[in-house]
Amino acid sequence: MIRDCLVLLCWLCTVNGKIGYFWHITDIHYDPRYSTHGNTGSMCWNTRSNIDSGRIRSDQRPPGMFGEYNCHSPWALIESAAQAMRAKHGEGIEFVLWTGDALSHTAGMSEELRIQSLKNLTDLLSHTFTGQFIFPALGHEDTGVNFTQIAHLWRHWLPNEALVTFKKTGFYTIEQRSENYHIIFLNTNLWLSTSSIIDNRVPQRNGGQVIDHSADPSGQWTWLENNLRKARIKAETVYIVGHTPPGVYEREGGASALHEKHNKRYIRLVRQYSDIIRGQFFGHWHSDTFRVIYSDTGVPVSWMMMAPSLTPSSPGGPNNPGLRLYKFETNTGQVLDYKQFYLNLPDANSAGKANWITEYSMLAHYDLKEITALSLHDLADRFTQSSDSAFVRYYAANTVSLPREVEEIWGCGGALNGACALRHYCAVTRLNPDSYRDCLSSYADALASVGSQRVSPLHYVPYLLTTWLACR
Ligand SMILES: *[C@@H]1O[C@H](CO)[C@@H](O)[C@H](O)[C@H]1NC(C)=O
Ligand SMILES: *[C@@H]1O[C@H](CO)[C@@H](O)[C@H](O)[C@H]1NC(C)=O
Ligand SMILES: [Zn+2]
Ligand SMILES: [Zn+2]
Repeated sequence: MIRDCLVLLCWLCTVNGKIGYFWHITDIHYDPRYSTHGNTGSMCWNTRSNIDSGRIRSDQRPPGMFGEYNCHSPWALIESAAQAMRAKHGEGIEFVLWTGDALSHTAGMSEELRIQSLKNLTDLLSHTFTGQFIFPALGHEDTGVNFTQIAHLWRHWLPNEALVTFKKTGFYTIEQRSENYHIIFLNTNLWLSTSSIIDNRVPQRNGGQVIDHSADPSGQWTWLENNLRKARIKAETVYIVGHTPPGVYEREGGASALHEKHNKRYIRLVRQYSDIIRGQFFGHWHSDTFRVIYSDTGVPVSWMMMAPSLTPSSPGGPNNPGLRLYKFETNTGQVLDYKQFYLNLPDANSAGKANWITEYSMLAHYDLKEITALSLHDLADRFTQSSDSAFVRYYAANTVSLPREVEEIWGCGGALNGACALRHYCAVTRLNPDSYRDCLSSYADALASVGSQRVSPLHYVPYLLTTWLACR
């Protein structure tokens, strides 16, 4: 009887769970040198050489006012995004996640200019969301700025305890005291692999700190594990938020951006605490994608979402600028859906007006009933079935509805072939670089043995998948 009542109560509290919203913005990559008098062949900067030559070369043209696919963000794009967020859902949101790479190393800014740019971005977001808190995470391109100065800029958003931790380490946690969940903000710069540091020309300084090669840089692992343990004891649920995600890049996979030892440790920890982790939110890849984490026995236990960048530019191929609005249950943190907004960049430039529109809603776009590790695992499986449109839909979202003629130069190409679908499928479901490579090669071998028969490789995937799952 008592048990029945409890069940009923729990059912009531789920049903009556208050619905809330939060924005996720990431990878703004503000470039103060962007100029509509510059040229698209040289970062959209107004460089001396192109002033000297007097005219722009015929294969180049002046940059559009809202940005270009091979350049980072002009102020006008960022301002239009802020206005769009305010207009679409400025009031009644719970908070804003801002997951880093506000700045760009390629812009070659001095520390003073970097701080000034961060200040301008902070002011813009403060004016956009006057009554709400914005919770930022550091990106790998936000380095070279003193943490104390950054903390000063963000002092109105972060509670005192968070500021104290942030100043020392760049990570912090937010307790939603009135609710039953809390948010953990990582400083993923502490866990980067050396190669991703070199690739991205990140200076070997991290806000004044030298990169730490120890097993637990700045004690972030100890801190994270303690937080998860405490949350479990208090029966709280958590979100984990950061800039650089674990796993491999789905567009040109192979290596993980995090150091392999940290990548492994992260996945292990998520498995261990999957019962209380209600969501993981990252940026960095600039593309729209997700990941599924499995238990040791192959059961999907947790998921991770990567929101696309505001900047249209990315080393792995461009995308349209994006903004994401999540819908969730505020008492449990359960994510219910999200709406992805985007700007069609060529249209905005030719109209001289930024018309941000809805690109898609998660549940409707993929025909899902809920967002859970299991439903996302099923979705990823559908990528490998040629009779299902899920991959075509996912791929359009991955580049934020990039115009076909631009996408053909960069991505899967006009023909969404099996190899491309597999790269995405393996990246989504295998966060460990070794298992990612196994996933790719086990399919590749099987595809090769199909030989010259002119059958779409995707045709074989359901069979291969079964075989492969059986071997896992
Ligand atoms: C920041 O804003 C101020 C005031 O509008 C402006 O003068 C300055 O050029 C801006 N700096 C950057 C880097 O955006
Ligand atoms: C950061 O700035 C603060 C105050 O401006 C200063 O006291 C501190 O020494 C600086 N830290 C580093 C690592 O440069
Ligand atoms: Zn970035
Ligand atoms: Zn990044």
